[in-house]
Amino acid sequence: MTDSAAPLETARPPRRWDPVVKLTHWTIVGAILANGLITEEGSNPHVWVGYALAATLALRLIWGVIGPAEARFAAFPPSPARALAHLRKIAQGRRTEHASHNPLGALMVYAIWSMLAVIIVTGVLMANAPAEAKSPVAAPPAAVQNEAREHEKIGEEAEEHDGAEGGEGHGEEGPLAEVHETAVNLLYVLIVLHFAGVVFETRRSGRRIVLAMLPGRR
Ligand code: HEM
Ligand code: HEM
Repeated sequence: MTDSAAPLETARPPRRWDPVVKLTHWTIVGAILANGLITEEGSNPHVWVGYALAATLALRLIWGVIGPAEARFAAFPPSPARALAHLRKIAQGRRTEHASHNPLGALMVYAIWSMLAVIIVTGVLMANAPAEAKSPVAAPPAAVQNEAREHEKIGEEAEEHDGAEGGEGHGEEGPLAEVHETAVNLLYVLIVLHFAGVVFETRRSGRRIVLAMLPGRR
């Protein structure tokens, strides 16, 4: 472990991400913005953006095995020990260069990808859930709808009082939507930390690392 950090630390300074890393990064950013801000939750556009996100993440993960050295998982292994060592170096004011993500950034990258995986799996499961999971009584006749509204009111009150038993009709969708939403919120926290990390690293290293993520620039 001790000497494994050395090659990364002394790796050549000017880093330039390959087009696949750049493209997948900004496509993922775009998909999150689209589904977080624009598409209606659970709508067709939301789900299609979701599938595009899934395909993009899959491409990046394959690239982590077959891509150029800097893009490979081997170049930025998830290692809390290395991340701690990196923090110590920051505290000591030591400047480090990394061929790929720095050890702290690497943990962040894996955290973001894991969160995206949870969002995608729950999203796909919900999107493919049988129709009755969304509307417990399929296409209720008009006469039943008034009655249904009454039940809704009672249901809302019941939800407020007790979530322990839960409505039987929502058994499939409820927990998935909960996990989906919680993962989305955790993702937002990670994104804020990622952004803070990028700003911090830019100031600390003096390198404009964002430029390395932009098309055709360094
Ligand atoms: C990072 C991208 C995504 C964001 C920000 C996002 C956001 C959300 C939010 C906030 C909800 C409402 C959750 C709730 O009802 O409590 C939702 C619902 C939903 N999402 Fe996503 N989502 C994303 C990706 C996906 C993906 C990849 C899929 C599937 C391919 C998907 C499919 C769905 C479906 C089917 C629902 C409806 C849930 C329901 O009926 O309650 N989402 N999404
Ligand atoms: C939705 C928001 C964002 C998400 C989910 C996200 C996610 C990621 C991920 C997963 C990586 C690793 C890239 C890879 O190896 O494939 C990464 C790297 C990077 N991101 Fe983002 N990103 C977001 C927004 C941004 C923004 C707005 C900027 C710049 C203003 C940015 C700048 C960077 C940079 C510079 C790197 C490379 C870090 C390094 O040098 O190690 N990201 N981001």
